[in-house]
Amino acid sequence: MHRMVKPLLEWYGKYKRELPWRQDAEPYHVWISEIMLQQTRVEAVKEYYIRFLKHLPEVRALAQVPEDELMKLWQGLGYYNRARNLKKAAQVIEREYQGEFPEEYELLLKLPGIGEYTAGAIASIAFGKRVPAVDGNVYRIYTRYFADSSDITKGKVRKRIRDEVGDALPEKCAGEFNQALMDLGATICIPNGQPLCGECPAANWCMAGKQGNMLDFPVKAEKKPRKIQERTVFLLEYQGKYFIQQRPEKGLLAGLWEFPSQEGTLSLEEIKSGLQDAGAGFAEIELLGKGKHIFSHVEWHMLGYLVHLVELPQDIVSGGVLSTVEQIQNKYSIPSAFSVYLEEILRRNG
Ligand code: ADE
Repeated sequence: MHRMVKPLLEWYGKYKRELPWRQDAEPYHVWISEIMLQQTRVEAVKEYYIRFLKHLPEVRALAQVPEDELMKLWQGLGYYNRARNLKKAAQVIEREYQGEFPEEYELLLKLPGIGEYTAGAIASIAFGKRVPAVDGNVYRIYTRYFADSSDITKGKVRKRIRDEVGDALPEKCAGEFNQALMDLGATICIPNGQPLCGECPAANWCMAGKQGNMLDFPVKAEKKPRKIQERTVFLLEYQGKYFIQQRPEKGLLAGLWEFPSQEGTLSLEEIKSGLQDAGAGFAEIELLGKGKHIFSHVEWHMLGYLVHLVELPQDIVSGGVLSTVEQIQNKYSIPSAFSVYLEEILRRNG
């Protein structure tokens, strides 16, 4: 890869994207942005990043933030354990490093939520260390560049690619080089659709580019298909408030708030008899329609109902809270999986 280093750095000098986290190389800023950028698009991250730093401008503030405030700042980004790990790591940095970010790759790797990619990104961008930061973009660029059809889901293949990218890193400005690869992957050697090889600074040496089979790379073993889970979601309205409950401490969307739901797709008749059995008096039940949410390993296919209650049974009340629309918006973190239904009640309540 050595041959592409100089042209790539020159290209980056001209075309680098202006991004909020590129205004400085503060380790705290680099870290927050890199964690947000895992599994989330650059465009979506920008606003979250700015708001997060406004609320929590430094490691100490993050180490002390109450859980519900943290979840609120993260609401909509998904993969909420990323936020919990940020706080845990901030506490370690406060306690063990007197609030100063460790500079060494090996030490960064020990912090909660920081894997090889993120440790490489922080060490190179914030501290100028000569270490690679290899993510999906780089695997794609590398395998196209060498027309390498190894399966990049294999740990051994990944390690080899990381080592080779590491060998190619320039002595100085490894952080720039790593970011140049990110931008090349995002704007030229793109994941979906035809890459823009005519504008690529590495086109002269790219094997797949020469062969015209760029789309054959990277090779990935088929993943197991996601499990599909049918769920019926209930928006229980009582005197203008809505019932929400907290999810269990462990597992999917742990600790976040939700509208109650039940596995399976229930008919109106089944819902009516269920409500009657629970002693819940209702005036009207409205069908809200379907919703779908895709998680990494499971898909929820939802059907939502809005139930206008006139009588509230005790075991409904004790399992959660009746909340105003304003509180749902500002106090409780409801994950995006429920956003079709949340938007519906926001619309109805102006
Ligand atoms: N994707 C992951 N990290 C990034 C960064 N620092 N800049 C742009 N895109 C990225």
